[in-house]
Amino acid sequence: MSRFPQVRMRRMREASVLRSLAQETRISISDFIYPIFVTHGRGVRNPIDPMPGMYQLSLDNLIPEIDEVVSLGIGAVLLFGLPASKDAEGTEAYEPSGIIQEAIRVIKQTAPDMLVITDVCLDEFTDHGHCGVIRNGRVDNDATLELLSRMAVCQAEAGADVVAPSAMMDGQVASIRTGLDSTGFENLPIMAYSAKYASSFYGPFRVAADSAPQFGDRRGYQMDIANSREAMREIQMDIDEGADIIMVKPALSYLDVISRAREAFGYPMAAYNVSGEYAMVKAATENEWIDGQRITLEILTSIKRAGADMIISYHAKEAARWLS
Ligand code: PBG
Repeated sequence: MSRFPQVRMRRMREASVLRSLAQETRISISDFIYPIFVTHGRGVRNPIDPMPGMYQLSLDNLIPEIDEVVSLGIGAVLLFGLPASKDAEGTEAYEPSGIIQEAIRVIKQTAPDMLVITDVCLDEFTDHGHCGVIRNGRVDNDATLELLSRMAVCQAEAGADVVAPSAMMDGQVASIRTGLDSTGFENLPIMAYSAKYASSFYGPFRVAADSAPQFGDRRGYQMDIANSREAMREIQMDIDEGADIIMVKPALSYLDVISRAREAFGYPMAAYNVSGEYAMVKAATENEWIDGQRITLEILTSIKRAGADMIISYHAKEAARWLS
């Protein structure tokens, strides 16, 4: 004798312990990578207006920041830097005294076990704000590869644990792998920003890193927001070139891409919960239009549910507090 409804899904939802036992996805502090912006000078702690809670920090202020990150149980940071001066070739990106290289050393002195990941891209260091060098009015792919490889090696020599190429130049992973292998860093992993879209969600970051392009936009090298099959080709290409970790960026509007990549590739995958995603949550929270804590944890959970193993997020510190 069957009675209607035969299956009662609500049986499993009644008790919180049972809900928890049956929960399919859990985020934890060990999933997070926290981005940090570093700058020259002393005593600098500039608030980044569109990203409440985020600062540009000078290296003296980086030390307490790292102590805090450690005390929250976050094991990895991703560095972005503001150089002392910018030029057409982004020189400070591959000088041993460059801001990122200095910051790596400070972090390694403060917290030797902290996993330091560095962005390999020229946009923060070029005066024109593009991710590569300009030849004949356009971003020149092959001339840029050489510089990206030098940049990655320079970061590795300063003590970086993982390098993360984000310039979207064709062949960048292979070029960096070759550079690292020939300088004794064959064990240093590459986290490739494989499917990086030409997204408007990077707006606040470009304020934070002072890296808005001075002419044109990035659609000549970053991916069309409308494409998903192309993302699979980008990821495959990075894997073939030697990527150890693949990435989809941004995260929230691209959960379908994360999910598709999870099914297609058995590689460790990162997702980047980018600045615009953070800014929207913060703005709505400050207006008391949403419950910031619950929405943040929902977003982070959904990114993981879609298939990301690790999440780069400006929310990492607060999320770590809420989760502990
Ligand atoms: C490139 C880079 C960007 C971001 C991370 N690495 C900017 C860009 O491509 O314009 C954006 C991250 C974010 O929005 O949080 N160096």
